[in-house]
Amino acid sequence: MKHYLQFTDLSLDETAYLFHRAGVIKKKFKAYEKHHPLVDRTLAMIFEKASTRTRVSFEAGMYQLGGSVVHLTTGDSQLGRAEPIEDSAKVISRMVDLVMIRTYEQSKIARFAANSRVPVINGLTNEFHPCQILADLFTFIEHRGQLTHPLDCLKGKVVAWVGDGNNMANTWLQAADMLGFMVHVSTPSGYEIDPSIAGVPEHCYRVFDDPHEACAGADLVTTDVWTSMGYEAENEARKKAFANWCVDAPMMARAKPDALFMHCLPAHRGEEVAADVIDGPQSVVWDEAENRMHVQKALMEYLLLGKQ
Ligand code: CP
Ligand code: NVA
Repeated sequence: MKHYLQFTDLSLDETAYLFHRAGVIKKKFKAYEKHHPLVDRTLAMIFEKASTRTRVSFEAGMYQLGGSVVHLTTGDSQLGRAEPIEDSAKVISRMVDLVMIRTYEQSKIARFAANSRVPVINGLTNEFHPCQILADLFTFIEHRGQLTHPLDCLKGKVVAWVGDGNNMANTWLQAADMLGFMVHVSTPSGYEIDPSIAGVPEHCYRVFDDPHEACAGADLVTTDVWTSMGYEAENEARKKAFANWCVDAPMMARAKPDALFMHCLPAHRGEEVAADVIDGPQSVVWDEAENRMHVQKALMEYLLLGKQ
């Protein structure tokens, strides 16, 4: 049994398979072709933080695969009343076939998985957001490569990360190490990445003080909110610290002329990204959001049934 708690939980070969399979599954979806490999299977979705995309993509995706879902939040379950995570894992995993969790510390999802009889998927923690990076890479491949040879277009590429050294940044680093591209990271001081969280070697990233320098020659420029969920108390301090870390047209102009722009969403126009960038021709954020569903369908199918 496999869990998907961080990007490195699947091998390079398995990740390449998921990109290929997501392409097949997306095609079927677009053609209204029935694809019900998970009939009679149930996914429990546990949300300890808010969500739009993750909720809709997992829930719609599971129904489209022929299965069903149970939706739990901290507020409407015993999770919010201090039932131990180990006990919750033992109980929930006796009744469903798969669990997706969005929570705070990575250690929490690790403890859940250690006590689960079924595969557990990370739907975002403070440290990682692996499903989002799967979708982002799939989107890059769709726009710049071929799903028959999904990894070819990623090798040697430069991804500019502008903003917080957060869960998304950590997961980009893990993907770079596995897939052979480079991340140019620029964060305000005090919000740096901690490469020990991602557990990656130094050759897969470079740190820049100036976000414009980080974007120079990039194939993809990407950013995220200044204040992630769980860090709201720091909002005012972050607004000051991040003021120069807004991806705007001059920053995009430093990247390659055909560079793509991505943002996992939700976005704050005028903060981490200028409206003319996120709503401009280089932005692929809507494909990126849609692709969450296609890659996660491939992931759920793989975790339950293996390669098809
Ligand atoms: N990108 C993302 O995970 O969005 P939600 O917070 O809406 O799920
Ligand atoms: N880094 C953000 C991503 C939201 C999808 C957060 O953790 O809130």
